[in-house]
Formats: sequence, structure tokens, C-alpha cells
Amino acid sequence: MHARIAGVGGHLPGTPVSNDDLVRRGVDTTDAWIAARTGIRARHLAAPGDTASSLALEASRRALEAAGIKAAELDLIIVATTTPDVIFPSTACLLQGRLGNVGAMAFDVQAVCSGFLTALAIAGNFIRAGSHRKALVVGAEVFSRLLDWQDRATCVLFGDGAGAVVLEAADSPGILAAAAHADGSQHGILCVPGQISGGRVGGDPFLRMDGRAVFRFAVRVLADVANECCAAAGVPVSAIDWLIPHQANIRIIAATAEKLGLPMDKVVVTVDHHGNTSAASVPLALDAAVRDGRVRRGQKILLEGVGAGVAWGAVLLQF
Ligand code: ACO
Repeated sequence: MHARIAGVGGHLPGTPVSNDDLVRRGVDTTDAWIAARTGIRARHLAAPGDTASSLALEASRRALEAAGIKAAELDLIIVATTTPDVIFPSTACLLQGRLGNVGAMAFDVQAVCSGFLTALAIAGNFIRAGSHRKALVVGAEVFSRLLDWQDRATCVLFGDGAGAVVLEAADSPGILAAAAHADGSQHGILCVPGQISGGRVGGDPFLRMDGRAVFRFAVRVLADVANECCAAAGVPVSAIDWLIPHQANIRIIAATAEKLGLPMDKVVVTVDHHGNTSAASVPLALDAAVRDGRVRRGQKILLEGVGAGVAWGAVLLQF
């Protein structure tokens, strides 16, 4: 039994907010600084009424339509998010309710920017084990809610969005291999250290980051986990048709591609128009490349990402 992607969908809320728009909104930055350091030109910001589950709903509808599968047929729904609608129930259950599905197993995965990869690996394992046949796997974030707009070193980096895939049991591959790791000793380099207790927000509720430490860590582990995943599948890195990395920063993406010996024309880059959307970024990039015809059936695709935790992972699949 294999687990194969049957359909992909994505959703970015509202209209793009350019780097110059941020300057006009009072952020002490420039388009030139953001573009040179990160490759980001614009991001999308959720409207006040948007939530992770409302963005997830749009992306999921598109993925289900592309797969030709009805929501009622799903028997597994996993949402990767760090910005759930509420503390509980899970955003996956809220999405399930919005989709009108009753009965599927539904839960969230919290692995921040590598959450979608973790969720995809989990869903793939359920399908390959034979317990489930049709899974919806979503990365959905409203990261703008965590941003301190006075902190120019972080607020320019992130955006909101959702991406989704439908994974189904199939006779042919499918997911070929997955690898995931974490190093909790590094939890302080990227975090939102606040918490809710006794009806109040305690501590600091904003995203805090040691950008240089994250950068160094990311470049070190991404090439390693890509190699590990390819080795597990017996597929040489040179046989990869597309690398679809977490869309955080063009310099991290380029450094990883270089370490892997992959030319940039084999790398899908969308960070320029939506910034870092955390768990949504890999499925959003996959969706863009499927819809514009770059990613085609039968190709070998390597998805990978790293984020807070620090947690990182990769999934190699035949599309
Ligand atoms: N606009 C203008 N100037 C800025 C801005 C800004 N938005 N932000 C910081 N600066 C200034 C700083 O104040 C500093 O000025 P100074 O030299 O006068 O003190 C100068 O730019 C350099 O600051 P650094 O923080 O040292 O800049 P750096 O070159 O490290 O770039 C960046 C910062 C882009 C965040 C980089 O460290 C990075 O890409 N890190 C990876 C972080 C990342 O991608 N995180 C995403 C989450 S994790 C993940 O998804 C992988």
C-alpha cells in the first residue's frame, strides 16, 4: 500500500502587502533591506475575521476539488498550525466542522515551520499501515497575530496563508521516505514565550528570534536531512526533479541547494510573494508549482523544512 498525493490547494488571504506598504504603515525598514536579506517582496495578512481554520477551509476545498474527492469521504484530517483558532478544540476539528465531514479522525500537529512535513509523514504512515485511506493534510497559519510590529527584525519576515494536500491509498508511490528530528535544547532561538493562565496572558506573547542562530542552524540541518531522506529511499539527490523547501529566506534556500549540489532552477521559490507562512509554506509552494505546470505526475519531489523547536524534517515523494 502506498500513500499518494491526489490533489493540492492553497489560499492566501486578501491582497499582497509589499515591503513599501510596511514602510508606509510605520515599520522602520526598506524594501532594499528586506529583499537583500530575505528575498521577501510581499506577504498576505489575514483580515480580523480570518482564522487558521477559515484559511484552511479555502485551501482544503481546492485540494479536494483537484483530487476529485468529497469532504465526506475523508477518514483522516490533520492540521499543522502554531496559530490555532482557539486553545481547544483542535483547528482540525473546526476545519472538519466547516467541511461538513463527520467521523474522520482529526487532530492538530504543532511542529511550527516543519509542522506540515510532520503531518504529511504521519498521514502517510496511517495510510501505508492500512488503517486510513483518504487523508487531508493542511498547513494553516495566521502568524501575523504573533508579530510585534515594533520589532523590525521579525515583523517583516512572516505572513499568513494555508496549503493543503489530499493523500490517498494507492497501488503506486507515493511517499518514498520521510525523516524528522528536533533539538529542544535550542528552543530559545525562536519562540513565543507567553502563555495563558488564570484568564490572563502571562509572559511575552510575541514572536522572538535570534535570527543569526536560526540561520546557521537551518543551513546546517536542511542539507543533512535531505541527504538522509534520499538515502532512506535509495534515490540519489541528483535524481530529484524539484526541491520544495520551507519558504523562510532565499539565502537559507540557496545555501541548502548549493550544499546539495542542486541548481536553483530545480528549486521552487515562492517566499518572494508570501514571506514565511510557517507550516503553510511548503504546501503553498507545492500548490504554486503544481498549478503553473512545473511539478508533474511521476516526478520526484523533495519537501523539507526547519523551524522553532528547533524541529526539522523532509519528505521525498513521487508526485
Ligand atoms: N530593516 C532594516 N534594518 C534592519 C531590519 C529591517 N527589517 N531588521 C534588522 N535590521 C538591522 C539591524 O538593526 C542591524 O542594524 P545595526 O547593524 O545598525 O545594529 C542590521 O540590520 C543587521 O541586523 P542582523 O539581525 O544582524 O541582520 P542579519 O544579517 O542577521 O539578517 C535576518 C537578519 C534576515 C533575520 C537573518 O538573520 C535571517 O535570515 N535569519 C533566519 C531567520 C529566519 O528565516 N527565520 C524564520 C523563522 S525560522 C524558519 O522558518 C527557518
